[in-house]
Amino acid sequence: MTAPIVRRVSELRALTREWVMAGERIGVVPTMGALHDGHLSLVAAAKKTCDRVIVTIFVNPKQFNNPEDLKTYPRTEEEDARKLARFDVDAIFVPEGDEMYPEGFSTTVSVAGLTDVMDGVHRPGHFDGVATVVAKLFLQTSATDAFFGEKDFQQLQVVRRMARDLDMGVTVHGCPTIREIDGLAMSSRNLLLSDRARTLAPRLFEEMEGIVEGVRGGGAFGDLRETAIARLQKSGFGEVDYLEMRANDDLGLLAAPDRPARLFAAAWLAGVRLIDNIAV
Ligand code: PAF
Repeated sequence: MTAPIVRRVSELRALTREWVMAGERIGVVPTMGALHDGHLSLVAAAKKTCDRVIVTIFVNPKQFNNPEDLKTYPRTEEEDARKLARFDVDAIFVPEGDEMYPEGFSTTVSVAGLTDVMDGVHRPGHFDGVATVVAKLFLQTSATDAFFGEKDFQQLQVVRRMARDLDMGVTVHGCPTIREIDGLAMSSRNLLLSDRARTLAPRLFEEMEGIVEGVRGGGAFGDLRETAIARLQKSGFGEVDYLEMRANDDLGLLAAPDRPARLFAAAWLAGVRLIDNIAV
């Protein structure tokens, strides 16, 4: 059954009022659309845990540090609604820009510390944009639970921190990254890859797996990292923004996995920025 598409906050509140009164668990899956199986796995997790599920689709201009990226970000609303039909979600919230950021909008939610590294450095302002829109979406949907992919692990930790710091009463669930058969992490931006770039893209994950195997076998992280970057660039990748081992909880930089850690990467391939992370 196709879910109602709601475009106004007032309509959304009218819908959720009874659910809140009845004490129902409301799960929200925030997305920017161009839905793939990674998003759909979040919807499935929300359906399992919650009484009501709202999927939000909003390409949030405040989190794009690059205007070209915002312009080319895929927008596929009709297809997204079709993909969601089989999940029987309770609402799809698709606000316009001026509904989210009306004239005079002047508030920013900013999380310190976790945003001082990786995408916080390479995409200035990105996490302020994410935290601001996610805070709004939590409030607008009256969420009790929210579902995010581990593919954007730094984002997941930033949102967790924000929800905790601001006593939002939202349980933030992290769900495993979903991969294509060849290992490439699913991402809406994969749609922007040319055929040739698409065949090369899984090499990022392959090199990351190689590093993790090397580290587990006692290899020096620095050497493994250097070799992997050289191999990626020889195969056709451009700049590697970062390839770093960091602690799961505070994202502190590690030279050896002496506490629970993940390997994080962001690399450019034919004008598309790919990001990924895996457990060490
Ligand atoms: O991960 C995303 O798609 C976005 O950053 C999010 C969480 C929907 C906020 O715009």
